[in-house]
This record gives sequence, C-alpha cells and structure tokens, in this order.
Amino acid sequence: MANVEKIRIKNFKSHENFLQNIDRNFNHVVVHGRNGVGKTNLLESFSFFSNTKGMRGDNIEKVIPIMQNPKGDTDVSLVLFSKNNNLNLNLFVSKNEDLFKKTFYFNDKKTTLANIKNYISFLWLSPYMDKIMYEGQSIKRNFVDKMISQNNINFYRTLISYKKNISERINILRNSKDDKWLNIIEEKISENMYEILKIRRSYANLINNIINEKLKNFRLVEIKYVNKFIINLEDKNNSIQNFNEKLKMNRNIDEISKRTNFGINSDEITFFDTSNQISTVLCSTGEQKSSLLTIILANCWKLKEEKKEFILLLDEATSHIDEINFLKLFNEVCKFNTQIWYTGTSKNLFQVIENKGFFIHLQ
Ligand SMILES: Nc1ncnc2c1ncn2[C@@H]1O[C@H](COP(=O)(O)OP(=O)(O)O)[C@@H](O)[C@H]1O
Ligand SMILES: [Mg+2]
Repeated sequence: MANVEKIRIKNFKSHENFLQNIDRNFNHVVVHGRNGVGKTNLLESFSFFSNTKGMRGDNIEKVIPIMQNPKGDTDVSLVLFSKNNNLNLNLFVSKNEDLFKKTFYFNDKKTTLANIKNYISFLWLSPYMDKIMYEGQSIKRNFVDKMISQNNINFYRTLISYKKNISERINILRNSKDDKWLNIIEEKISENMYEILKIRRSYANLINNIINEKLKNFRLVEIKYVNKFIINLEDKNNSIQNFNEKLKMNRNIDEISKRTNFGINSDEITFFDTSNQISTVLCSTGEQKSSLLTIILANCWKLKEEKKEFILLLDEATSHIDEINFLKLFNEVCKFNTQIWYTGTSKNLFQVIENKGFFIHLQ
C-alpha cells in the first residue's frame, strides 16, 4: 500500500501555492469543491509522475500558470508513505530560453520517470477518457497500448522503434526508393510488429482472466483483438515472413497514401460487455464508464499481483454513475488497500465513504 501524506505545489496551473497534509490512516481521500477550483489540476500534478503528458495529455508548458510573472518555477513535491518508508517525489519545471524542461527527483536525488515507476505508479480515470468507450478504434488501441507501456518497458521501446521505422520507410518510398534499404527496414518493422501484436494479445488475455476472477461482481468486460489479415501468430518466423511480404506488396499503395496500410493498426480492438453480450460502444454512458473502470481496476489488480505499489486517482467518477454502482466501485477499490483519490463538486456525492474518508474542501 502507498499513501500521499504531504503535498506542496507551487505554480502548477491554477495552484500558486498549495499545501496539504493527509492523515495516513485514511485510504480514501475526497477532494470536493465547485467547478474550476482546481480539483483536476491537483490530481493532474500527481499524474506527471507516471506519464510524460499527465492525465490530460498536456505538454509540460501547459502547466505553467498563465498569470503574469508567476513567482518562481513550477514545483510539485509529494511525500509518500510506502512499505514503511517515506519517499520524496519532486517534479521541477524550469524555463531555459524558450524551452521548458522537466526534472524529477527521488529522495532529493535527480532521477528519471522510469525509475520513479519502480516505486510508485499513479493510475487514473478522468472525464477525458469517456470518449474511449464511444469513439473509434485508434483511441481504444492507444488506451490499451499506453496501459501496457506503463509497466512494460520492452513493449514501450518496441512501439517507439516501430513508429520510427514506419516513418523512415514512408520517407524512403517517397524519395530514394532504395530497394536494399527498404528490405532492411521492412524486416525490422515485421519483427516489431510481431512483438507488438503478441504482447497486446497476452496482455488482453491476462486482463480478461483478472476480470473474470476478481471483478465478477462489478462488471464483466472482455478485451478482444481481431485482425482479418492474420490467421495465427504461433509460428514466429512464418508470421514475420508473412508481414514482410505484405509490406513489400503494399509499397505502391503506401507511397501514394503516405501511410502504412498494413501495420499494427490493422488490429481491431473491441471492449465486449460479456454480461449483455454486446460491444460496449452500444452501452449507456453509465455502463460505458463502469466498463472502462473494470479495465482500469483489472490493471490495478495486475500491479497488486506483481507486488507493485500504486495509487488510484478517480476524477469525477461519480458523474454518470448511480449510487448503487458507486457503492460497488467503492467496495472494489477498498480491496486494493492503497490510497484512492476521488473528486466531485459536492461532499454529498460521497456519503458512502463518510467517516472512512479524508475530505479536502477546495475553495
Ligand atoms: N496554465 C494555467 N494557469 C492558470 N490557470 C489554469 C491553467 N490551466 C488551467 N487553469 C485553470 O484552472 C482552473 C481549475 O481547473 P480544474 O482543476 O480543471 O477545475 P475542477 O476543480 O473543476 O476540476 C480552471 O479555471 C482553469 O481555467
Ligand atoms: Mg475537474
């Protein structure tokens, strides 16, 4: 279990100077206050310790207060209590000429974001994610790819390498058309692709099993990958050769369309509502939110089983979710025995938590 015990924020969006201590005996922390008081900004400041773009997908310059001449640099400082130790996390944002630079510190020593993930992960649900359930393929695929990347550096690196290679291939196709070079790049892309498709499927399998085992009483959802171009991935060499041939065949059409028509995006992903036997795209907004939560909670269970510490940030989880489902959610997150953050416009939304929670009223 892990708990944020102390927060000190300077110059992060609307928070000019924010200080808060939190009683470690409460796992549930509720931040409430009217629209625009900075509830999401508070959780967002934590999320930069787990993701380069934080929970709103913002570039770091966006966090600089827009007021004239903020007094000093941006500094987010958290004291965590985890495994009987205090951990100090710091994020500094400084401006050099026109460039903004992020620097992380762990127990006062300069460190990397990747290293911080060895000690703590922040996971979140935010209203920005609602669209994952009703919009198209790419947003769903990216959401799951990001979840995999969070704790699988090999997957993350393969994705980066794949993206670099496909852009290089399009460049060659549009310019030199050097056959030898194309063969080499296509070979690399095929290997990257095999790796990515394999990891996606094994991740989906794992998450689906966790959902069946741990989240039966919440909501049953299944992550499915379908790829009409691929029959089976069991034989690695054969699959890679197959991908390679398809890439070669597509050279002309890829050159004209300036994109890779056969690649990792030919994977079609569905979140399937197993209880109702329909795709979650067709579910109600509230049902979609619960389905999204199921996937996030399964990811929490995965971390818990791997004995990794995490804190869950639930921004506006009560919107679209009725009282019964919120109670169900509360019962599920209690099992993690770690700190859970909630935000909402009114304290009344959190009656279920009552004396089990630490309440922060932002004004
Ligand atoms: N870079 C920034 N500098 C100063 N204020 C900002 C910046 N970015 C956003 N804000 C403001 O922060 C306020 C609080 O936002 P938010 O945390 O989303 O509120 P809520 O409490 O409703 O979640 C908003 O009024 C927004 O205009
Ligand atoms: Mg908000």
